[in-house]
Amino acid sequence: MSETAIIKIGDKSYELPIVEGSEGEKAIDITKLRAQTGYITLDSGYLNTGACTSAITFLDGEKGILRYRGIPIEQLAENSTFTEVAYLLIYGKLPNDAELVDWNNQLTRHTMVHEDLKRLFTGFPKDGHPMAILSCLVASLSTYYQDSYDPENPEHRQISMIRLIAKYPTLAAFAYKKSIGQPTIHPMNSLDYCSNFLNMMFAVPAEEYKIDPEISKALNLLLILHADHEQNCSTSTVRLVGSSLANIYAAISSGICALWGPRHGGANQEVLEMLISIQQSGLSVKQIVEKAKDKNSSFRLSGFGHRVYKNFDPRAKIIKKACDNVLTRLGIQDPLLDIAKELEEVALKDQYFVDRKLYPNVDFYSGIIYRALGIPTNMFTVMFGMGRLPGWIAQWKEMIESPDMKIGRPRQIYTGPTETSYADAKKKA
Ligand code: CMC
Repeated sequence: MSETAIIKIGDKSYELPIVEGSEGEKAIDITKLRAQTGYITLDSGYLNTGACTSAITFLDGEKGILRYRGIPIEQLAENSTFTEVAYLLIYGKLPNDAELVDWNNQLTRHTMVHEDLKRLFTGFPKDGHPMAILSCLVASLSTYYQDSYDPENPEHRQISMIRLIAKYPTLAAFAYKKSIGQPTIHPMNSLDYCSNFLNMMFAVPAEEYKIDPEISKALNLLLILHADHEQNCSTSTVRLVGSSLANIYAAISSGICALWGPRHGGANQEVLEMLISIQQSGLSVKQIVEKAKDKNSSFRLSGFGHRVYKNFDPRAKIIKKACDNVLTRLGIQDPLLDIAKELEEVALKDQYFVDRKLYPNVDFYSGIIYRALGIPTNMFTVMFGMGRLPGWIAQWKEMIESPDMKIGRPRQIYTGPTETSYADAKKKA
């Protein structure tokens, strides 16, 4: 007999089904709870709530496991490319050679953006944050493709997914070029995904730019590590917006905004700024750790802690190793790396961090690599978004194609005033 859960409210009992995932995770299915009992569940921050079933990414926060479509992240980081991983996440299997060639060709052919779109850049202040610009530009792509963005049409879905992955680097690089007052560099079809982005970021019309394969390789790794992370804040945002059947550009643009926050993807920028401020303030690493523990201060150690990982974030392990390798191969000595390592060492031994199971997360070392690659600090979260894009798209596609798809609409427990007449309220004003 299949397992069930019994919930007792007053003198009545209700039986609820248990759903079991392929890795043995279990959930009480409360889909019919309100209809059966009149009650809802309350779970602030969704700590215990599964919003969907998904076959894309598995992570075990206690054991520090992360797999895309069953394949361990360590193996993908070692052997794959970002565009292959994007295919894997979106279509559920690794592409064969012909499929990969075709996929890469399509991603290359759609990299250009409409010339009119460039005029939008002139309206933004020079120092406008690139995440704001990017979210706006991604939403604005929908205005150019109104004939092919119906989420319920499989052909429209296909071309929209390709356009987004192909054009994101172009838009990101254009936003950067605008911020530094340089002319934009058009995409180059002969280059692979990462090299093309680097070329658009760093080439100038006046001289040749040589793409360093080490830099391209490091970028490839970072994008793979960020490519999906199941139902995090930005992915859940993409699903929620997408569930209204708004077009994919609108859904992804919302995901970009969610990612921007310092408790989510914005942490990579915060980590670097924190390390620089430690370097400049002359405060010791111990003093910074004390500040992070002080309940009278809102300061948190950026790049530490994770909602799901209560053990080492497996991505952080890979990035730390890559950080050492990349800096050595590029011949860079960055004192911020030394500060970061000392900070990690002190925090990991501190009882406060031990008790709360706070470990370095993916963002702790990624900024140091981005800095070594020449990416400016305010572009770090844009880079995270570039990596996360296939994950957002895969999750959106899975949701739209699910026969159970419903508009996302949480409930609440109302705690405000009970009915009050306007006249009485006015008297109390
Ligand atoms: N520094 C100091 N204290 C912390 C930190 C930190 N980085 N993170 C959590 N805590 C404390 C927090 O104050 C709380 O203490 P207490 O129990 O005494 O009230 C306890 O640990 C639990 O924190 P929480 O906020 O309830 O935990 P959460 O699971 O809701 O939050 C988090 C997870 C990532 C938002 C949080 O750890 C954090 O703010 N970290 C810093 C920001 C960061 O690095 N974000 C990137 C996350 S990884 C990239 C991504 O996927 O977005």
